[in-house]
Amino acid sequence: MVKICCIGAGYVGGPTMAVIALKCASIEVVVVDISVPRITAWNSDQLPIYEPGLDDVVKQCRGKNLFFSTDVEKHVREADIVFVSVNTPTKTRGLGAGKAADLTYWESAARMIADVSKSDKIVVEKSTVPVKTAEAIEKILTHNSKGINFQILSNPEFLAEGTAIEDLFQPDRVLIGGRETPGGQKAIQALKDVYAHWVPEENIITTNLWSAELSKLAANAFLAQRISSVNAMSALCEATGANVSQVSYAVGKDSRIGPKFLNASVGFGGSCFQKDILNLVYICECNGLPEVAEYWKQVIKINDYQKTRFVNRVVASMFNTVSGKKVAILGFAFKKDTGDTRETPAIDVCKGLLGDKANLSIYDPQVNEDQIRRDLSMNKFDWDHPLHLQPMSPTTVKQVSVVWDAYMATKDAHAVCILTEWDEFKTLDYKKIYDNMQKPAFIFDGRNVVDKEKLREIGFIVYSIGKPLDAWLKDMPAVA
Ligand code: NAI
Repeated sequence: MVKICCIGAGYVGGPTMAVIALKCASIEVVVVDISVPRITAWNSDQLPIYEPGLDDVVKQCRGKNLFFSTDVEKHVREADIVFVSVNTPTKTRGLGAGKAADLTYWESAARMIADVSKSDKIVVEKSTVPVKTAEAIEKILTHNSKGINFQILSNPEFLAEGTAIEDLFQPDRVLIGGRETPGGQKAIQALKDVYAHWVPEENIITTNLWSAELSKLAANAFLAQRISSVNAMSALCEATGANVSQVSYAVGKDSRIGPKFLNASVGFGGSCFQKDILNLVYICECNGLPEVAEYWKQVIKINDYQKTRFVNRVVASMFNTVSGKKVAILGFAFKKDTGDTRETPAIDVCKGLLGDKANLSIYDPQVNEDQIRRDLSMNKFDWDHPLHLQPMSPTTVKQVSVVWDAYMATKDAHAVCILTEWDEFKTLDYKKIYDNMQKPAFIFDGRNVVDKEKLREIGFIVYSIGKPLDAWLKDMPAVA
């Protein structure tokens, strides 16, 4: 029986390994992590992450050929294939701070693999890493190898949170990069054999190591760039009276462009896009390509601009002040169908409104109060470095309440900001919400989920990103 061990039981390690276990009954899969609470949760009925379909998959194979453990060394020692799926956040200190990937967790995992191994292993980079990381990992492993043969593969993960299980069941492609040596090719084949249990052969792409590493960064950069492109257009739409949904539809009909990932919004979030682009920018700078670095930096600048623009629109529309006014925040996760809040635009929007002294009442169906308070008290990039946690200032604590119902959040509010596209926000009883709000009642839809015309009929003043402005909003121009 082939034994797989995955180091890192997070958003990637957990779901990917659960699906491998489900699809490959002949393979034993153990997911290990240094975090005791995370492993305890994976072994309980309340999994540590929310992902549609995940519960089902885990229930079907946990205890059969899928195990979760904190005994990292034992399971790494016993494995034939070791996936490394640890976090690779942006560095917050030292050389490359604010841009370069922090490979501390990766390096310590590699050193541990070298220390405990007693048999040959294939080590698979699952985390998103800078191009050429495999070379560094190879050096660590071979310098400490005691004669053991390690083959390094790059197998970046392309799943999207919220649809992770679907994406893993039917991936657009599986990418495997390895050395162009006989040993490297043999390792590629071994990993191909795992995926071939359920992924059609033509969807498994093999490349050299560096192409695989760079493809992941490039894919995320391209995706984020589409969002920033349509968001840039949304600002122009508001200025000209064009409707961004109509523009996206018309543009996306071009088969060279395609319709996906063209929704204007308050901005992209999630743990990957910003981190991976910053990493790409850093790599370009290190390779003497400042023009290329500058090009990709703009994607992040537009994203920041979009969030600032949203906050300014809210404040400007409400007579240039939200001080002491209750603002309901509907949605805090970075997108629907996940409880993940890493880099969610809601953090920046809430901080912006708090800076203008608004009182926020926040509701998200999947994010709990502790998480929201932690997020609002952290500095940028600190979410993956818990040691730098900062206490929330007493004033901020008073300005924020977290509730478990959209109606409670909006009661007596002056304005509602929709920051995540949860389906339930489409079907709320907006008449009831309007009746219980202060007047004039504002809705700022950061995800274009509500029916603008219907809400206007009820009496709301409505702002939807990239849509023609109400007369009210035209009279109160916001400067970004
Ligand atoms: P995560 O933070 O949810 O999980 C990482 C886990 O690794 C944590 O539970 C941590 O305790 C554990 N860990 C760190 N060092 C360890 C060590 N030495 N030994 C054992 N466990 C250790 O991170 P996530 O979201 O799963 O991301 C992992 C990697 O996958 C990152 O490089 C990310 O960029 C990449 N990725 C993430 C995607 C996502 O949607 N979240 C999608 C595709 C790639």
